[in-house]
Amino acid sequence: MAANEALLLCSLLWIVSSAEGKEFTVTCLASEDCTLPCQFQSDGRGARIMWYKKKTIVSCTRYGNTSFVVGHNSPADKYKGRTGLYADQVLEGNATLLLRNVTPNDQGKYFCITMTAPRTDESGIISLVIKAPVREIDIDFSGDVVTCAAEGIFPAPTLTWSTDPPADAQLLQNKTKAQKNKYGFYDIQSSLRLTGNITTNHTYVCSITSDSNRKTAFLKASVLASAGSSVKISCSLPRTVPQSFNVTWRFRRSHPIVSISVVDQRSQAKVWDQWKPRVITNFSASGGLHLHSLKSEHQGAYTCEVNTPEEMYVTWTDVTVTEESKTFTYIMVIAGLSYFLFLSYVTLGILGYRIRQLESARRQEEQTDGTSVSLTEAVNSEVTEE
Ligand SMILES: *[C@@H]1O[C@H](CO)[C@@H](O)[C@H](O)[C@H]1NC(C)=O
Ligand SMILES: *[C@@H]1O[C@H](CO)[C@@H](O)[C@H](O)[C@H]1NC(C)=O
Ligand SMILES: *[C@@H]1O[C@H](CO)[C@@H](O)[C@H](O)[C@H]1NC(C)=O
Ligand SMILES: *[C@@H]1O[C@H](CO)[C@@H](O)[C@H](O)[C@H]1NC(C)=O
Ligand SMILES: *[C@@H]1O[C@H](CO)[C@@H](O)[C@H](O)[C@H]1NC(C)=O
Repeated sequence: MAANEALLLCSLLWIVSSAEGKEFTVTCLASEDCTLPCQFQSDGRGARIMWYKKKTIVSCTRYGNTSFVVGHNSPADKYKGRTGLYADQVLEGNATLLLRNVTPNDQGKYFCITMTAPRTDESGIISLVIKAPVREIDIDFSGDVVTCAAEGIFPAPTLTWSTDPPADAQLLQNKTKAQKNKYGFYDIQSSLRLTGNITTNHTYVCSITSDSNRKTAFLKASVLASAGSSVKISCSLPRTVPQSFNVTWRFRRSHPIVSISVVDQRSQAKVWDQWKPRVITNFSASGGLHLHSLKSEHQGAYTCEVNTPEEMYVTWTDVTVTEESKTFTYIMVIAGLSYFLFLSYVTLGILGYRIRQLESARRQEEQTDGTSVSLTEAVNSEVTEE
């Protein structure tokens, strides 16, 4: 019953109100706390504060003379748990509304009605404008398509592509899609299909612009074949290197390898455990990534992401590992061949030796035979001589 009464009271008051007068604008950043100001003449003996967005009750609260809320608060569902008044200031005539976690859906015209025992006041129209700048821009690459995306922007952003060095616009086919999510934010995504052989030695540049800021992502792709199991991958830094920035190296776009944080030109690096055995760790942000002991499972895309407040640079390197196992097989084959040759040589040697042995044995035998013959002859001759 109390709730019904409250609703009735709040609604009735809305009907009483005509909410005309001066209008002013309040701009708030999405997802942050937002305050809508409203002042009234307070006699310090209690007040009823009502906030509306058109006909919708945003907040409807009664204060006693001790600064505590004694009344009701019956906002529309979408405002439940997101509103508040500055309780200690209400009886001083400050009915400023706090609105938390604002989204584009909160954008619109608000007004406040204040009631004290002697009078009812009505604020002018407060036009709430929400802005959600581009926070993170993401750029990705897969063979012949570069994609660029950002989320949660308001009002609707625009996206543009370019390349460095400039490429024939006919070689760049882009498809851009912006969608509104249920809170009113825009998610934008664009893909650029690369035709012709412009994949290498071009930097793809995607800029997403909202009415409050712009973020630009750069992607440079290249292919690298490792010589053996170690490789040195380079990373493009912005032309003018900022004082502070972050570099993250990743494997296959998701698994982090190393992150380097540069603050006022002093850098600090963190190597992920899994990669510790493969990373040669004498980093400078510009020195690239030096890996060793790579196996075939380490073949794939390595990316270096450099983040500055307005820009993101991605260097995409497809690494082919000339397999350790291949070199190994090669060595094994050579070793096998050598062994075979060695064995053959030894066998031949032994055979030769044996043959020579046999031969000399035969010769010796022949000689012995010869002597025996002559002996017999000698004997015979002796016999015959007798
Ligand atoms: C608050 O109001 C009550 C009744 O209206 C009154 O008795 C009391 O003195 C008031 N207290 C203050 C601090 O004004
Ligand atoms: C009303 O209260 C809010 C919140 O404390 C404060 O920011 C604002 O300055 C106050 N307004 C006036 C006129 O005192
Ligand atoms: C992207 O596509 C739109 C329309 O399809 C076109 O107007 C625009 O020039 C294209 N931009 C680039 C950089 O190719
Ligand atoms: C890319 O640039 C490098 C150095 O600037 C050059 O050596 C290489 O030949 C270029 N590759 C192509 C495909 O143009
Ligand atoms: C670098 O990363 C740290 C930790 O994630 C973050 O607090 C900082 O803002 C980043 N700096 C830049 C320039 O993006």
